[in-house]
Amino acid sequence: MYSDPAVPTAPRLLDRFGRHVTYVRLSVTDRCDFRCVYCMSEDMIFLPRAQILTLEEIAELGRAFVELGVRKIRITGGEPLVRKNVLWLLQELGGLPDLRELVLTTNGSQLEKLAPALKDAGVKRINISLDSLQAERFRRITRVGDLDKVLRGIRAAQTAGFGRLKLNAVILKNRNHDEVVDLARFALANGMDISYIEEMPLGTIGDHDRAEAYYSSNQIRADLEQHFTLLPTAETTGGPSRYYRIPGYGSRIGFISPHSHNFCGTCNRVRVTAEGRLLLCLGQEHSVDLRQVLRAHPGDRERLRQAIIRAMEIKPQGHDFNLQAQPVILRHMNLTGG
Ligand code: GTP
Ligand code: 5AD
Ligand code: SF4
Repeated sequence: MYSDPAVPTAPRLLDRFGRHVTYVRLSVTDRCDFRCVYCMSEDMIFLPRAQILTLEEIAELGRAFVELGVRKIRITGGEPLVRKNVLWLLQELGGLPDLRELVLTTNGSQLEKLAPALKDAGVKRINISLDSLQAERFRRITRVGDLDKVLRGIRAAQTAGFGRLKLNAVILKNRNHDEVVDLARFALANGMDISYIEEMPLGTIGDHDRAEAYYSSNQIRADLEQHFTLLPTAETTGGPSRYYRIPGYGSRIGFISPHSHNFCGTCNRVRVTAEGRLLLCLGQEHSVDLRQVLRAHPGDRERLRQAIIRAMEIKPQGHDFNLQAQPVILRHMNLTGG
């Protein structure tokens, strides 16, 4: 079981509400080969290359965070595996002795070819988005994705020896809510964990009304309980999922419920966008421009560390997501990868 790592070395990243930051999510690109309807609009404009951090800059950020007590780094996107030479970055970070977990969130489209190399680079766990097991529906939700390719990627990750894969399913009413049981069966049959996610209102998406598409974790749990016994656990992977177990199976069934079960009180994470903006909360705009620090003072790790430590003072208490209103946060999810 994962327990939030004790961080013996000072200084630690501590915010005004007494929360320790030990988990950083680094987005390595805003680009993606999918266009998931809850994440993007159809006509996205991606960032020009000069605005994106170089892989060396991202590695430098990783080193600074680990020196400050961070023990878990998750690489995200967009789709992180479409970034050229991302394996170099993973090897750099995977070799940091004090980092306990280098993990990755991906849409699975590149896993078929990259899974063994990810294992070699030191990636410990992979979370894979999977919202449907029906090819046509999968394509409608991702706008372009090929379900078979993702399923082959999942198998490749298992073959490469990734023991604890986790599936992420964003559940939308009248899109895929009738698949929650099938998705659970798939996870159980393949020895994987699964998290069901309530959609968050980030950026304008133009596809559906998010309030109408809301399908709560409680509804999902009730659907699952028609078929399985769900036992609550105190297990944590250091992320926002609340986990249940089904007797007789190794899988965990998780719920990420930003609307129905706010988890901000125990938040242990920050994220850095592909352009180097340190975001103190996924659901707020409080941020610090670390790219400016990196580029104005190259190689000055102490200055970078101080900028990160100071940023903790503006970490907000939590998000104010409201599905009924127009999204207040204009940035789309592909800038942060969640
Ligand atoms: P584990 O390490 O396996 O626990 O992963 P994780 O749940 O931390 O990461 P993952 O990339 O699988 O994220 C799953 C979902 O959780 C995504 O939709 C994220 O946007 C969401 N999520 C992660 N952290 C936060 C957070 O601080 N606030 C909110 N609102 N959502 C978050
Ligand atoms: N709300 C909730 N989850 C989202 N994701 C992408 N956009 C949203 C959103 N608006 C999920 C993806 C992926 C994870 C990183 O974030 O499905 O699994
Ligand atoms: Fe790409 Fe992930 Fe956004 Fe889907 S959710 S479009 S896979 S970044």
